[in-house]
Amino acid sequence: MKIIAGNWKMNGSKATLHEMQQRLSEINTENRVILCVPFTMIDGDSAPAAIGAQDVSVHDHGAFTGEISVSMLKEAGAKYVIVGHSECRMYHGDTNEIVNQKAKMALDAGITPIICVGETMEERDAGKTLEIIESGVRESVPSDGGDVIVAYEPRWAIGAGITPTDDDIADAHKLIAGILEKMGRGGTPILYGASVKGANAAQIMSIPYVDGVLVGGASLKPDDFIPIIMATK
Ligand code: PGA
Repeated sequence: MKIIAGNWKMNGSKATLHEMQQRLSEINTENRVILCVPFTMIDGDSAPAAIGAQDVSVHDHGAFTGEISVSMLKEAGAKYVIVGHSECRMYHGDTNEIVNQKAKMALDAGITPIICVGETMEERDAGKTLEIIESGVRESVPSDGGDVIVAYEPRWAIGAGITPTDDDIADAHKLIAGILEKMGRGGTPILYGASVKGANAAQIMSIPYVDGVLVGGASLKPDDFIPIIMATK
């Protein structure tokens, strides 16, 4: 069983979500499928894919115009929430510390956080990839609370149509698994994300410690997303 999570970013509509759910109901898979959609599309009745959000406020309620609290996500029916996505780190200034707070908010509400970590191109070029991954996991993943999912997303490869080598993915995932084990979070699913598509999904998911994928662009259309889900049984 693998976890196949889609991140729709600021794309899609209720109609395309409905169409996706319809198409997903026609396939037979043991994989866990999650769709992280814009806030306005989160709707309690979400089968067959579980519905998640893409961000959450660190605040519980109050004068925070434009933000969405975890209790609002819960009321709407979200079961998962992505925290620390590269675009939130880049455009909203989310730091590991903030990501940790968001993950804690989610855990307290019984929503599973999908915690993203990964290096930028600059960090990669400076030979800091493993260092950034290590601090990302240590600082962003809460040390206690319920189950989490971690996603390794090399930030330079997101939406770029390129992926790291299998060896690089293997090294990153092994490192993350080891850190999580030391944190008392052994067995936490670790997803790979960035430029996953039907053509590379099976290969990527055959790498040790890759428990699934987090998919951006290729999760928007059933014809692109379903082959990724069916790439592994
Ligand atoms: P991508 O995005 O699959 O389009 O590279 C992945 C992500 O941003 O989670």
